[in-house]
Amino acid sequence: MVKSAETLERLFAESRPKSAALFETGKDVMPGGGMKSLGYSPPLYIDRAQDCYLWDIDGHRYVDWLNNACAMILGHSPKGVVDALDRLVHNGIVFGAPNTFEQPIAEHICQRIPSIEKVRFTNSGTEAVMNTLRLCRAYTGRTKIAKFEGGFHGTSDDAEVSIAPPIDEAGAEESPNAVAEYKGINQGVIDNIVVLPYNDSEAVDLILTENKDDIAAVIYDPKSGNYEIPHEFLRFVAGKCKELDILFVMDEVKSLRVAYGGYQQLAGVDPDLTTMGKLVGGGMPVGAFGGKAKIMDMMDNTTGATGISSGGTYSGNPMTLAAGLAHMEEATPEVYAHLKELGGRLTQGLKDVFSRSDVPARIVSTENIVSAHLTPDPVRSYRDILKFDRAMRHRLKLGMLLEGHYARELQELTISSPMTNETVDDFLASLEKVLQDKD
Ligand SMILES: Cc1ncc(COP(=O)(O)O)c(C=O)c1O
Repeated sequence: MVKSAETLERLFAESRPKSAALFETGKDVMPGGGMKSLGYSPPLYIDRAQDCYLWDIDGHRYVDWLNNACAMILGHSPKGVVDALDRLVHNGIVFGAPNTFEQPIAEHICQRIPSIEKVRFTNSGTEAVMNTLRLCRAYTGRTKIAKFEGGFHGTSDDAEVSIAPPIDEAGAEESPNAVAEYKGINQGVIDNIVVLPYNDSEAVDLILTENKDDIAAVIYDPKSGNYEIPHEFLRFVAGKCKELDILFVMDEVKSLRVAYGGYQQLAGVDPDLTTMGKLVGGGMPVGAFGGKAKIMDMMDNTTGATGISSGGTYSGNPMTLAAGLAHMEEATPEVYAHLKELGGRLTQGLKDVFSRSDVPARIVSTENIVSAHLTPDPVRSYRDILKFDRAMRHRLKLGMLLEGHYARELQELTISSPMTNETVDDFLASLEKVLQDKD
């Protein structure tokens, strides 16, 4: 049944007066009152986090199912990361010079992900993608980039194309238009993006073959725990790129959390280049990109200018690299096995809970990322996502926050290692209650 939006909104706002007050004063100095808007009012201001919990300034505790947009795999303030940061805080923080933290994490990444022979660091996943796409253009001498409709690759102009386009501008399903996500994106960029549909091999084949002489690279977001895409589809795309001599870039900024060696390990593909971020920084801002030495070596300007480089004041800074290595070293295959087990429990539990309710839902999961889409139909593309019940999503989101679960709209729920069977069961019991509650 679920309580009405009016009741839930009232209960939520009444019990969060400090967040409401901070939101009001924030509006004086920041557009929209602050940096993150997650679609409820007031926004929740969090002032502390530990393990799998967050606390807001009104004193409510939440189980954190978002883990900073999938980044945190060991929960908040894991000891190894805290110790690494603590050492650096007392030893200079940042040096503006080559540092001893670079090689160990580079070696770790190259060992962990076999397709990566050499790697460079940036401050965000966005920058990793920006530099990678530029490298692909420089390496091939071609201008176009192909991406998938609904795929997300950060906030650069190249990336913010056809993520969630208005359906009346999106074009035919099998040959989508390139649509700027926001005003202000350079039209020249849009003209150089080719958009592909997920889960349609025939269309991908046609579009890539037609544009093969202009396309430098295909960049692929696996939409882990979000869209239903069989591994065969990814293998088809990677194989087609090889056949047509187009570079294949796997965007693992998010999906490095689904398996020790990333989504590419699950699907069995060998990309030319890989972009990374999130968990690679252990909670510090980070991005990284790497891949085949013959391509990455274009970034080597030590024996003469190659015409391309990547830099940044904070790129490869010691704090990020030390925290990142500690995080990655602690995120062992055994940790991934634990996350997968809980992800499976959550997936099955969500199917059971929704099947006992009158709210139709499609549960999609990849290992430890799980979404409950409020539609009865398969979710194979962005256009399928549009069919969800928007109003119900809002009500469930508020209901779960009131029950102490920071779970956005049941989209991309993520497991962290401090979670246990009880954490998952408690979430499912709360959801069952929210679904049965009445005004
Ligand atoms: C697949 C993917 N690529 C790139 C990015 C951008 O990373 P960042 O937010 O660190 O710029 C994200 C962020 O969510 C992502 O999910």
